[in-house]
Amino acid sequence: MSDWLITGCSELLTLRGSVPRRGRALRELGIIRDGALLIHNDRITAVGRRRRVERLRESRRAEKLDLGGRVVLPGFVDSHTHLIFPESRAEEFEQRIAGKSYEEIARNGGGIRSTVNAVRRTPAKALHQSALARLAEFAAHGTTTIEAKSGYGLDWTSELKILNVLRRLHQDQPLDIACTFLGAHIVPPESRRRPAAFVDQLVRRWIPSVATAGLADFCDVFCDRGAFSVPQARRILATARACGLVPRIHAEQFAHTGGARLAVEQHAASADHLEMLDRGDIRALSLSNVVCTLLPGCDFHLGLPQRAPARALIDSDAIVALATDFNPGTSPTLSMPMILSLACSQLRMTPAEAISAATVNPAYSLRQHDRIGSIEVGKYADLAAFDVADYREIPYYFGVNLCSLTMKRGTVIHSKKCETLGHETAR
Ligand code: NIG
Ligand code: FE
Repeated sequence: MSDWLITGCSELLTLRGSVPRRGRALRELGIIRDGALLIHNDRITAVGRRRRVERLRESRRAEKLDLGGRVVLPGFVDSHTHLIFPESRAEEFEQRIAGKSYEEIARNGGGIRSTVNAVRRTPAKALHQSALARLAEFAAHGTTTIEAKSGYGLDWTSELKILNVLRRLHQDQPLDIACTFLGAHIVPPESRRRPAAFVDQLVRRWIPSVATAGLADFCDVFCDRGAFSVPQARRILATARACGLVPRIHAEQFAHTGGARLAVEQHAASADHLEMLDRGDIRALSLSNVVCTLLPGCDFHLGLPQRAPARALIDSDAIVALATDFNPGTSPTLSMPMILSLACSQLRMTPAEAISAATVNPAYSLRQHDRIGSIEVGKYADLAAFDVADYREIPYYFGVNLCSLTMKRGTVIHSKKCETLGHETAR
């Protein structure tokens, strides 16, 4: 580790200020033009205009990195991923194009079940290798922290295999990974006839064991038609809380079930998906500290016309975040910039709102806002630089990767030379 003086930030999006962001505060990016920052080891020690930061005594000794007029922002925090799975489900993609629905495919034994079968027969080493390659891709798109869930094992041995792969990944690569136990993804095939017994097992054995062994910080439930009901999810999340795990929930994606209200009742860190929210839900969420994590990659990939009500949530002061939901069934993307593009064009979020929803608010939902999510003195030096002149061009260009540098805790973990797209910058 070393000290860095970073200059040449045409726009330095600090995101300084209050956390979490609600309503109009989502538009406040704390932009410093011609910005600079000073880093000591893994932390930020000064942020400001170039002239001021350059004059600091510590700046003279630091290694210099001139970004030549790029837009710099906090590394993205992707607070919803299913990182660990062995293979794509491209054949289901093709079946959906031919007219089958996601839920139909799942009912016929495909969907989550087919990934569960694949995970069970894949050795930990292979899962580890594919995860490493994916984490490098996350980093290449500007992401510096992710959340990752289990949930494709669904027997004790296979769930442990996933959680242990996640734990080892922590040591083997630079990104931070917050770990979530999703033993309640679906009822696995062998328990199909006795779902209540599966929930009993989760509540009596698996959740307490995961918590005691310190294998996860969060516990998630897929609460929807075809997965777990609200009463089942309530029991699971209440147990998780009693064991010291913080609840998260997949809610209101395909059917309106009451999952969002359950998130409020159980003080969940976040409620994710939310396409089917009603007005009462929006009000309840906006009066709570539950982070509404929208996953626009799903509707895009599944080709569904539904949209999460991002505008209504923001306008009623709910805490909104965005995430990839990286998984083989509904959202096979690792690109937060692509998610920002979808949030702007499909959910009608402004570029500034989308950036806050991809940095400070997900940091809050992962309970890490004291160290990540903004560029402020004392926080980790987690940054992404984009080869654009104006931050709005990050979501404006889509399907291209303009992230030219990613830094995690003061170490450069990705860098590439980009040509500028349709603008001139002073280099
Ligand atoms: O977040 N909704 C539940 N879980 C995933 C989909 C998982 C899969 O299809 O493999 C999601 O969309
Ligand atoms: Fe998910």
